[in-house]
Amino acid sequence: MKNIKRLVSSIALLSLAGQIQAQAADHEITYNGDAGRIINENCVVCHREGGIGPMQFETYDQVRPWAPLIQLKVANREMPPYAYDHGIGIQDLQGDWRLQQEEIDTLVAWVNQGAPLGDPDSPLPQADLGDPDAWNFEDELGQPDVVIPSVPIDIPANGNDLWSTHYVPHGISSDRCIKAIQVKPRGDAKTVVHHANSNIDVYNDQGELERYGMLTEYAMGKWGELVPEDVCRTFPSNSMVRWSIHMYPGGIGAVAPGTIIEDNVVEIGLWLHPEGYETDVGYTQDLKQYNIQFAREEREI
Ligand code: HEC
Repeated sequence: MKNIKRLVSSIALLSLAGQIQAQAADHEITYNGDAGRIINENCVVCHREGGIGPMQFETYDQVRPWAPLIQLKVANREMPPYAYDHGIGIQDLQGDWRLQQEEIDTLVAWVNQGAPLGDPDSPLPQADLGDPDAWNFEDELGQPDVVIPSVPIDIPANGNDLWSTHYVPHGISSDRCIKAIQVKPRGDAKTVVHHANSNIDVYNDQGELERYGMLTEYAMGKWGELVPEDVCRTFPSNSMVRWSIHMYPGGIGAVAPGTIIEDNVVEIGLWLHPEGYETDVGYTQDLKQYNIQFAREEREI
């Protein structure tokens, strides 16, 4: 009996999927209609002038040559980049970047229909994404309390990978709790900074720097981190920030303007709780365990 019920519900699901596909294919799907809207809402944030995507999808003329590859990438769930299983585990996620199945079906059907523009007299409203260099938490939290820039580095647009490890001061004069953190390559640096890790090293009694733990990590496309309410992620004042930045001049960097991309700077934006916050909360948090090197050394001691 159970099996029959299962069979009936599978048939119902199958016919529902069939209907969606049929609906998607029944009417003409156009760029000026649903296809462009889906691209504007889900892709342009990275695929735009100054964004991290290697090509721009801001207009029909920019999108059209890529239509077959767009179809492949969305059908395989490789774009937008969001490596999370869709058939297993918790699916109701906050800040979920994945496309809905219906949106995937719409884009796939649009390309199958020849990726048409649609009515040229009713153009799609431009995606309004604001300044690509704005801080991601600006709307909720305003400007960061502290910005910690790396030392500027010139990078050839084409060439071998480069790494830079260096210390910078941070100007924080008392122990504080981090509320939110974002790492942001400034301007054209977005096109060459592959990833950037930052650590905190504290001064010991002899005035030498010792590892404390990781501050945060960044890789292309990362949004930022909000520390949960009632948690203090510690930032000791008696310390320096140690950057470890990997620059990737080939690939995406190769389409950046000029042969030398000058003054590449990566910034850490920190939003801090008021002084004394840690005495009011139950939990503290640091990222000691994130720092594999650090954890390994500790084990060896
Ligand atoms: C979070 C940023 C981000 C978003 C959002 C995003 N992309 Fe991308 N996309 C990238 C980056 C970075 C690359 C280059 C690296 C790569 O190919 O993985 C890329 C590459 C591509 C490529 C070229 C792949 C290749 O093999 O050359 C296509 C096509 C593409 N994206 C389509 C899309 C579409 C369609 C969407 C929206 C449904 C989208 N992307 C959303 C960042 C993004």
